[in-house]
Amino acid sequence: MLKDNILRLLLGRSAPLSGQAMSRELGVSRAAVWKGVEALRRDGYVIASHPAKGYLLTASPDLLSPAELSRPGRAVGGEVVYLEVTDSTNNECKRRAADGASSGLVVIAGEQTGGRGRRGRSYQSLPGKGLYLSVLLRPEGSASPEVLSHFTAWVSVAVCRALEGLTGLPCGIKWTNDILLGNRKLCGILCELGLTDDRRPDYMVVGIGVNVSQTEADFGPELSAIATSLGQHMATPPTRAEAARALLGELDRLWGDFPGRQGEYLGEYRTRCLTLGKQVRLIQPDRERLATALAVNEDFSLRVRLENGTEENVSSGEVSVRGLEGYV
Ligand code: BTN
Repeated sequence: MLKDNILRLLLGRSAPLSGQAMSRELGVSRAAVWKGVEALRRDGYVIASHPAKGYLLTASPDLLSPAELSRPGRAVGGEVVYLEVTDSTNNECKRRAADGASSGLVVIAGEQTGGRGRRGRSYQSLPGKGLYLSVLLRPEGSASPEVLSHFTAWVSVAVCRALEGLTGLPCGIKWTNDILLGNRKLCGILCELGLTDDRRPDYMVVGIGVNVSQTEADFGPELSAIATSLGQHMATPPTRAEAARALLGELDRLWGDFPGRQGEYLGEYRTRCLTLGKQVRLIQPDRERLATALAVNEDFSLRVRLENGTEENVSSGEVSVRGLEGYV
């Protein structure tokens, strides 16, 4: 659509772009450009007209529009699908993967009716308040399930980079992949691996939920003790679309870096990991133990010292970790 192409030209520019330049670039008349600009204004985009200089986009509505978010030619976000409501963007990505969707597909929803967290938990997904986004990635070559199992930790680093870069707020990681702001959970990550019939890795779905504008009341009594949103830390939080753009940029970078730059991501993971040095409860289906979190190993497992002084490595598949004081 013409207005989408005009929007792409205007996005990210700090100086006006002339109607003539746009008409040349898009191969349409200046009248058509003007009509496209008017259509964008009706959608809520604030576009200033500077005499003799052209058009400047000064504010965007929080539309999560594929036109605004898609990244033609990039490894992540070449195709973006927006759904007002779906059960779970991870489920939608998996359905599309089964239908042959390409690597890099992004599914975003305004609301999830069956948002899923790790360990079969549900994930609160209120309409318009959070960003609910999943990316389908198809690993090339012979990436082993073991290497792919580190991916979720890499994603934690990418999400921290994206949100910190966007807001200036310091993001940390609660082992293995909760993103924290002020010691409360800002964002959850659910990575799922799809296998071929002969049990080789076929695709990964990376699901990310970011709390953008929830209030304490939105979270409710149980969640508000452990969750936070960007809106609780900023007078004007970014829009969901801005958060999505920042995430897609970092995920694109990550996909180019994976798995070669393991050392860089591991180093940053360790620096950001707020669990280290803390007293934690190691929770397993059949028992709970107290321990001190000592280090993050090369494979992103956690080295802990138990109360009896022995040390062991625990992996996220077997235990979940809760702080003794507070969430971390
Ligand atoms: C967790 O905290 O346990 C992980 C939460 C992951 C939530 C995201 S929201 C987008 C995607 N769709 C889902 O159903 N889950 C993930």
